[in-house]
Amino acid sequence: MEKTSIHGMWSSRMAFILAATGSAVGLGNIWRFPYMASDNGGGAFVLVYLACIALVGLPILMSEVLLGRHGRRSPVNALTDLVRDLGASKGWISIGWIGMVAGVLILSFYSVVAGWTLHYSWLYFSQLFGAAPITDPGATFSGLLGNPLELSAWHAVFMVLTVAVVALGVEKGLERAVRFLMPALFILLLTLVIYGITTGHLGEAAAFLFKPDWSQISGRTFIDAMGQAFFTLSLGMCTMMTYGAYLPKGVSIPQVGVTVALADTGVALLAGLAIFPIVISFGIDPQGGGPGLIFTSLPHAFNAMPFGIAYGLLFFALLSVAAWTSSISLMEPATAYLVERVGMARRKAALLIAGICWIVGLATVFSFNIWSSVRVPEGMGVISNKNVMDMIEFVSNNLMLPLGGLLIALFAGWVVKKSLLKDELDTLSPGVLALWRWVVRVVAPLLVLAVLISPFILD
Ligand code: PHE
Ligand code: NA
Repeated sequence: MEKTSIHGMWSSRMAFILAATGSAVGLGNIWRFPYMASDNGGGAFVLVYLACIALVGLPILMSEVLLGRHGRRSPVNALTDLVRDLGASKGWISIGWIGMVAGVLILSFYSVVAGWTLHYSWLYFSQLFGAAPITDPGATFSGLLGNPLELSAWHAVFMVLTVAVVALGVEKGLERAVRFLMPALFILLLTLVIYGITTGHLGEAAAFLFKPDWSQISGRTFIDAMGQAFFTLSLGMCTMMTYGAYLPKGVSIPQVGVTVALADTGVALLAGLAIFPIVISFGIDPQGGGPGLIFTSLPHAFNAMPFGIAYGLLFFALLSVAAWTSSISLMEPATAYLVERVGMARRKAALLIAGICWIVGLATVFSFNIWSSVRVPEGMGVISNKNVMDMIEFVSNNLMLPLGGLLIALFAGWVVKKSLLKDELDTLSPGVLALWRWVVRVVAPLLVLAVLISPFILD
């Protein structure tokens, strides 16, 4: 009989693709990708990012899914089983622990930013009933950031929404949430790109995004691009491993891996093509937009276009849902672990993790107001001048995820037996399998290592 997970199983191949895409597509694509590109000078960053997705992201994505499917338990336990069967060092189990800690750190700030999108959904919703329009988007955004109470309240609302789904479990909660969202989000972004064409600035936006200015390359470009590649594909923290544990045997891992990576990259590029024409046409500097980029630029467009209020509401509501399907996947590894390890009820485990994330998230909330003057001093290379939130993001996205990914690649490439890989990746021809294994053993680890040390060499 086929081994299944105690947490339930995806009902089909499509269900897994939807859930994994739901995890991948989120704030990382629509909020973070555009502002990372903006802060790193555009095209050069985007090209390095795309290379990271293809050479590092996709192979590691496949590794995570296959390890998860083989283990059928939460990452720490799946790795424990695997290490025992292989007679390998127990040190590899640390991959699961790095993942759970990174997940809590990421969810802590992710939920705060998702709170911003909830707030903006609310702002547009109330405009439908006559509330004042956003005439000065910059002021509206800094007003929100200056208000710790409001920020932590929306952060709490988002955490409650996340717990609600995680508590329901795999089939009932996770699958349902993503079925309609992805196509809707895609269509919405497409119409925004069309609006961008009407502004007459699509060409400039495309040039900014895709024409590399190599003088902009520094250690920071590489470390930001690699961090973004891991973050956007939900890699390096065992999310995809956890989702892989619920994947039925017989589904082609390379095929679903490519589908998820393409969908995620497509949404990020569409978001860039939607946002930068608006940024340019309203006279905003496309460079150095920072985390406020979409919140200070898009409202200009919603003010100017027909049905802009309804459109703004739809945009921020869908973005909130996209963030929601990602936050669920951020919480799943630690929740599944508590259920397996201490036999906690799923609902209780989810609440406990959410409580911890909410409290840690207050550091992000305060970094815009009461702690806004707390900064890393100048002269500290890539981390110079970062605030508290930037530092949490840096440690989780740029250090922990690549480190986790590096270990996953080394483990799948060097420790796991070839026969197991062959069995899990049985749709690959022998030649492609050998190529994949070589990338996972050598290419991906070397690239991640090079990027991790690039700030010390290039700056
Ligand atoms: N991939 C998600 C996004 O782009 C964020 C995420 C990271 C989700 C890590 C799960 C794990 O928004
Ligand atoms: Na993403």
